[in-house]
Amino acid sequence: GSKRIRVVGEAPLVQTVGHELERSVALYGGNIVRQPGDGSETGSQEPDEVTLTTVDGGPGRGDAVAPAIAEAMALATPGDPAVRALGAEGYVVARRDGHTAIVAADAPGMLYGMFHLLRHPGCVSGPDQPAQRYEPRHALRMLDHWDNIAVHPVMGQVERGYSGGSIFYADGEVRADLSRVERYARLLASIGINSVAVNNVNVHAREARLLSDDLHAVVRMADVFRAWGIRVHLAVNFASPIILGGLRTSDPLDPDVGAWWDEATARVYQAVPDFGGYLVKADSEGQPGPFAYGRDHADGANLLARALAPFGGVVHWRAFVYNHRQDWRDRSTDRARAAYDHFAPLDGRFHDNVIVQVKHGPMDFQVREPVSPVIAAMPGTRLAVELQVTQEYTGQQQHVCYLAPAWSEILRFQPWGPDGATVSDAADGGLAAVSNVGDDPFWTGHPLAQANLYAFGRLAWEPALDPVKVLDEWIGLSFPAADDVVRATLHDIMDGSWRTYEDYTAPLGVGFMVRPGHHYGPDVDGYEYTPWGTYHFADRDGVGVDRTRATGTGFTGQYPPPWRDVYESASDCPDELLLFFHHVPYDHVLHSGPTVIQHIYDTHFAGAEAVEAMTAAWETLRGRIPDTVFERVSERMREQLRCAREWRDQVCAYFYRKSGVPDAYGRTIF
Ligand code: GCU
Repeated sequence: GSKRIRVVGEAPLVQTVGHELERSVALYGGNIVRQPGDGSETGSQEPDEVTLTTVDGGPGRGDAVAPAIAEAMALATPGDPAVRALGAEGYVVARRDGHTAIVAADAPGMLYGMFHLLRHPGCVSGPDQPAQRYEPRHALRMLDHWDNIAVHPVMGQVERGYSGGSIFYADGEVRADLSRVERYARLLASIGINSVAVNNVNVHAREARLLSDDLHAVVRMADVFRAWGIRVHLAVNFASPIILGGLRTSDPLDPDVGAWWDEATARVYQAVPDFGGYLVKADSEGQPGPFAYGRDHADGANLLARALAPFGGVVHWRAFVYNHRQDWRDRSTDRARAAYDHFAPLDGRFHDNVIVQVKHGPMDFQVREPVSPVIAAMPGTRLAVELQVTQEYTGQQQHVCYLAPAWSEILRFQPWGPDGATVSDAADGGLAAVSNVGDDPFWTGHPLAQANLYAFGRLAWEPALDPVKVLDEWIGLSFPAADDVVRATLHDIMDGSWRTYEDYTAPLGVGFMVRPGHHYGPDVDGYEYTPWGTYHFADRDGVGVDRTRATGTGFTGQYPPPWRDVYESASDCPDELLLFFHHVPYDHVLHSGPTVIQHIYDTHFAGAEAVEAMTAAWETLRGRIPDTVFERVSERMREQLRCAREWRDQVCAYFYRKSGVPDAYGRTIF
């Protein structure tokens, strides 16, 4: 159209806003007017004008100010001291008399306001809209890359990555050409992400050096991200004082170790003044940590926190700590208990700039888990909740599995019961997620897996968003030519895909049943007798893990009321978590009606059928979406269908052979 877009201000992020809008104008028409933000501009608007400005950048308030600007300004700077001031990332949108104003408190808010505009073209052409405030619910919205610089002999370059190699690293170095990272940063800013950890939490020797001789390369990555309002974080090895510094110890209470971290951290901030901080996996799955010196996780985290504090940095200290060398014969060890047992007693001991990062469930990103009891157990600690966008246990980007409905359930869950706060409220240290992006031409391997990345960003900004609406936004932005039929078909395929995945894989919250190591495809007993933990205890009479206080591992006791009692009782426990909390006979009747064994058969047949339907629905889109996308998805769906049938047949056969109970409907079980 003939839109005139006025961009007021000169801060670096405002330059980004200007350039981004120039690209849109080149595509869709209109023109951009840049103004310095020194108060010289008037408060009037030309016909059809969109104004983007900060509160201080002007135009100032006064008689001549156009109504849209005046309204947005008024809401952005509430006179009433009882009303919280707009944060630096927030913005106000108002539309009046055919003019639109976006007013932010600061440049980051202008950036997000600009993306709002691109997401909702209606706010520059539609009917008038009263001024509305938009602000992120979480100050820290972070993506963690499990990328290695050196290709790992077992894990490859990106641990649990299903989208090719790393976008950051090639040939054992940070890439010389970071233009793809630049596009990635833009993509992340558009969904509201403001922090990125650029290397794997398992920090091997090569990657440890990002903190020392490779700092210059971190500077280059940080420069690219900074232009889009994103801070860079590094995963660091707790033994760095030994590995990099040549000290004989990394004991957190040793003064030389403290001095080493202080110096190393000061060097980082000299090079990258807005560096975000450290991410640490310690005493977990073989990573070094404070236990070697008889110290605890608070000692370890506070050591790094002290080094970061003078510069405003934070340490994300992961709570994913459990014994991965347990003996399956020892029924008293329960992996689900571990994070709480290690961390809850430390509540109150962590420094202010420590964020304890907790996986959303007590196990490990399974398709269904209860919410981790740690989230309700540490009121005196800043917590971040960690989600997994990369689909390690949810189909590895071969399967369509739109995860936002699962995340939405988690974020809205009320750990203290119906009158209490939500998981999202408890996550006062923000949300973090493992990224699903690599150097694949579609970014995420499976083109439809992009929706998960999109949804994570949007839910981290506003956890109350409806996952179906979020998907609708994503469809509109990704397939601008999509008509109602394409849109509806994509919803049919994706809206319920997480539950479909759950249907044909491990039943009723029991988890795992995947092939060990790579975690793809069915293997019911794959982990049952390994040192990593025992998951289903199936025998001829029943299945599930007794985690009750009365007769089991006592895990239910880690929850506050009402959940400690709801989960304790096999009759009150929600069906979908029954086998996580209880070992029950196969003829146990579910709330939903069928017995456990019949439910296993029914969901597995239904799940595989749903994938058949999904595949057929996709076929109807041939010619209606770009061919390259169509072909890539078709190829992956063939694999999803093969794999779903394999899951169905293995799980059904396994439980039929264990239980001897036939399927009530006489379907083929091998
Ligand atoms: C899972 C995953 C590992 C990863 C670990 C973690 O166990 O399989 O590859 O390192 O989570 O979150 O640290």
